[in-house]
Amino acid sequence: MSDRPRIFSAMQPTGELHLGNYLGALRQWVATTRSGEFDPIYCIVDAHATTVEYDPREMPTRTFETALTYLAAGLDPERAIVFVQSDVAEHLELTWYLGTVTAMGDLHRMTQFKEKSEQHKQNINSGLFTYPVLMAADILLYRATVVPVGNDQVQHLELAREIGRRFNARFGAVFPEPVPRLSTTPRIMGLDGKSKMSKTRGNTIGLFDEPRAVEKKLKGAFTDEAKLRRGDPGRPEICNIFTIHRALTPESEVAAIDRDCRTGALGCGECKQRCAAVVVEELAPIRTRGLELKANRVQVIETLREGAARARAIASRTMADVRRAMGLSTAGME
Ligand code: AMP
Ligand code: TRP
Repeated sequence: MSDRPRIFSAMQPTGELHLGNYLGALRQWVATTRSGEFDPIYCIVDAHATTVEYDPREMPTRTFETALTYLAAGLDPERAIVFVQSDVAEHLELTWYLGTVTAMGDLHRMTQFKEKSEQHKQNINSGLFTYPVLMAADILLYRATVVPVGNDQVQHLELAREIGRRFNARFGAVFPEPVPRLSTTPRIMGLDGKSKMSKTRGNTIGLFDEPRAVEKKLKGAFTDEAKLRRGDPGRPEICNIFTIHRALTPESEVAAIDRDCRTGALGCGECKQRCAAVVVEELAPIRTRGLELKANRVQVIETLREGAARARAIASRTMADVRRAMGLSTAGME
């Protein structure tokens, strides 16, 4: 086993990912993998996605496209394990055992559960309630210590730490403490300027969007209602285009854009064109790799199966330790 810190992170299979997913998460996953300083595992968590209403006929496509986007964005499956959660049954097995050291009260405090049970009133199932236990299992199964997440997952990660601590206190030291690694990119706003970029809101720039589509989408994007024409002073801090500039445009230029927007010297039209140029440049290699992979479906599936086999090898060792610590199975009788 490598002595580099193990990283684990995951996304739900939402299909092809968007610029927000890339700048907020994927780009860092790729960078940490390339740095060689970590032992990275990246998962597509399809079992988590079953906690809300979904169409089983669409799920394979969603999972495939999410995986394909990981690879197209530059995740190298030679250096990182990339796999689909439900291909490794140990996730579900560990979830059960961790559930027995998880307090109901802690789960009731999860804000995401409260939000989701508001959104899905007709289907508040116990899987939605124990979602954070499955997430704890994802991480602890690989004894990961570094977990890149966005702000919205910090509470879940705190609970994962607590669950690990409770398990260790009761059964002996099996799990190390996972530490969150917060994304340094602030939320990318959607093209409507009203909320974060998100697939369900249809306000996204897709990672495989063609250059012309990117330009067109950005051209029509909402900016600052107080800035109607060039010359009007703008407010970069509330502008969705500016969130993208900050993530992709060289720092000195960002400072100039900030200044010239405020004075009114820079109009939204030109600012958007410059934004489109940096987005198109960043997405070009992703699109090329994406098209290649789309033409090689079998290869993507094969990569995921190899990833699952490598993940399973680690997972089965952890589960043997868990069962032994808990005094379970015939293995403990020998
Ligand atoms: P989601 O599918 O919304 O749970 O997002 C998956 C990952 O992408 C998470 O790590 C999020 O933090 C990140 N992400 C999603 N939307 C955005 C956004 N608009 N801006 C920045 N990061 C995002
Ligand atoms: N719950 C996370 C999300 O919706 C996804 C996730 C599942 C995850 N398991 C994880 C993230 C383990 C980090 C580590 O974004």
